Amino acid sequence: MVNFERHEYDVIVIGAGGAGLRAAIEASAQGARTALICKSLLGKAHTVMAEGGIAASLGNVWPQDNWQVHFRDTMRGGKMLNNWRMAQLHAQEAPDRVRELESWGALFDRTSDGKILQRDFGGHRYARLAHVGDRTGLEMIRTLQQNAVHKGIDVYMECTITQLLKSGDRVTGAMGYWRESGNTIVFAAKSVVLATGGVGKAFSVTSNSWEYTGDGHSLAYWAGAELIDMECVQFHPTGMVWPPSVRGILVTEGVRGDGGTLRNSDGERFMFNYIPDFFAAETADTIDEADGWYDDKVKNRRTPDLLPRDEVARAINAEVKAGRGTPHGGAFLDISSRRSADYIRRRLPSMYHQFKQLADVDITAQAMEVGPTMHYIMGGIRVEADTAATTVPGLFAAGECAGGMHGANRLGGNSLSDLLVFGRRAGLGAAEDAAAQSAVPEVDESQVEEVVAGMREPFGRSGEGPYEVHSDLQDMMQKNVGIIRTEVELDEAVNRLQDLKNRSKDVMVSGHQQYNPGWHLAMDLESLLTVSEAIARAAHMRKESRGGHTRDDYPDPSDEWAVQNICIKQGDNGGMEVSTTPLPQMPEELKELFEEGSNA
Ligand code: FUM
Repeated sequence: MVNFERHEYDVIVIGAGGAGLRAAIEASAQGARTALICKSLLGKAHTVMAEGGIAASLGNVWPQDNWQVHFRDTMRGGKMLNNWRMAQLHAQEAPDRVRELESWGALFDRTSDGKILQRDFGGHRYARLAHVGDRTGLEMIRTLQQNAVHKGIDVYMECTITQLLKSGDRVTGAMGYWRESGNTIVFAAKSVVLATGGVGKAFSVTSNSWEYTGDGHSLAYWAGAELIDMECVQFHPTGMVWPPSVRGILVTEGVRGDGGTLRNSDGERFMFNYIPDFFAAETADTIDEADGWYDDKVKNRRTPDLLPRDEVARAINAEVKAGRGTPHGGAFLDISSRRSADYIRRRLPSMYHQFKQLADVDITAQAMEVGPTMHYIMGGIRVEADTAATTVPGLFAAGECAGGMHGANRLGGNSLSDLLVFGRRAGLGAAEDAAAQSAVPEVDESQVEEVVAGMREPFGRSGEGPYEVHSDLQDMMQKNVGIIRTEVELDEAVNRLQDLKNRSKDVMVSGHQQYNPGWHLAMDLESLLTVSEAIARAAHMRKESRGGHTRDDYPDPSDEWAVQNICIKQGDNGGMEVSTTPLPQMPEELKELFEEGSNA
């Protein structure tokens, strides 16, 4: 018989980054009794790693910007694999969400005439990122957190959810443990929103911190939901590469957005050699290598350093492989020759301190060494665009753990706007769904007992520790399912994953349940292995290259695959089922935006 703490809510939101906070605020505003549950401390979320800005076509710097252009950029950046309706809603609603954030107290940098300033980022036709220096995600979290706390939303911090509860097809709540005491906690809820972020800790070089173990993806999958596009993984081109202890920490795209350029060890601006045909018309004819290329008066400027992230990450990877890398295996990123020390310290204060303190590099005078780092997963839980409902009744998802919005590659800055737009929609969808239920569901205690017994198993085992398995998983995913993939490596990955799953079943932890990080990792391994398998299997199936999925053996995009989502679902025998489903059809009036001569 397990003793457990029990709570009842209309809506629970699991994950308290930008999407979770925005969902909770909305659910609460709709009158739902709402709880926000987070694995870490409130405010510590990967949202803060979106440093450079929130993409929204406010048109403050470029009046010709509008939602249609933002929509087209997002779809093109996503290599047209996006759910068009999500991309449309996102582009249409992002400006309102940014203005709302401002009205809640966010202090954006300003233009000289007092409007919200907008910065350039890769793949965006116009400078459209509202920002606060290079701390935009932090300002967004601060603002949302303050709003949520003042709304009286109950917050459960350092509380990890390990399983969703169900009755029949419907989700009825969630259960997990307090990280400090190890004690079990159960939430009965009419509706549940997942907003747990990404899966970065499945890879060895990542900008993600310890929390990002694919929890929401796995909770949804185990509950019967579908995952889509899991093969599409974003390697941000610029992470720190040296010293080893900080490898993977993000170097914001804002450095390039504010004029930084990439060079190889020969001093060459190599990105000029990597402009894909797709972007050539817009890039090649407007490139001005002279210092004035970033003149704010020059319209339609483009620099290949600001191509979409997948293109830049592959180019750096290729330069390093060709022997033109930096001493520590990256590329040089220099802003000091274009911008004054004052400008750099004012616009990029975090980058300045990060390099000074962690690498003893003064970016106002020296180039940085940078290389790709696993930053984001485009794939995630399949949701209905307007309501954020998953395929499981009572379950909603928003933010990085939801799939579809970004297609095969996300444009920088589109994550913060995604969190706001779909966080709000998920909170609304969940509150409406909860209002249609007559009562908070009963908790099935036998389900709870079974899950708790499974959670405690590692204490009674005698195998290896969880850290060895995790480290081997990360090395394998980095090597076999990284930026460039092949059939042979992916076959090996699927086999190695089976072996790692077998090893994880024997993982042993010592000590007791109170604040035991080894035990926490032993439980996280289940979700890490689940999402890793989903990524590897989907990558194996997609026989083409598209966005954040590059196959050396199928280097080109294919027409056949262009119209298919890869869908992952738990089969009746508990194994992973991988299939394809056709992409939703875009309506004619949106298709016209992609035609030559479209004046959007
Ligand atoms: O580079 C960055 O500042 C990251 C932004 C993002 O991922 O959207």
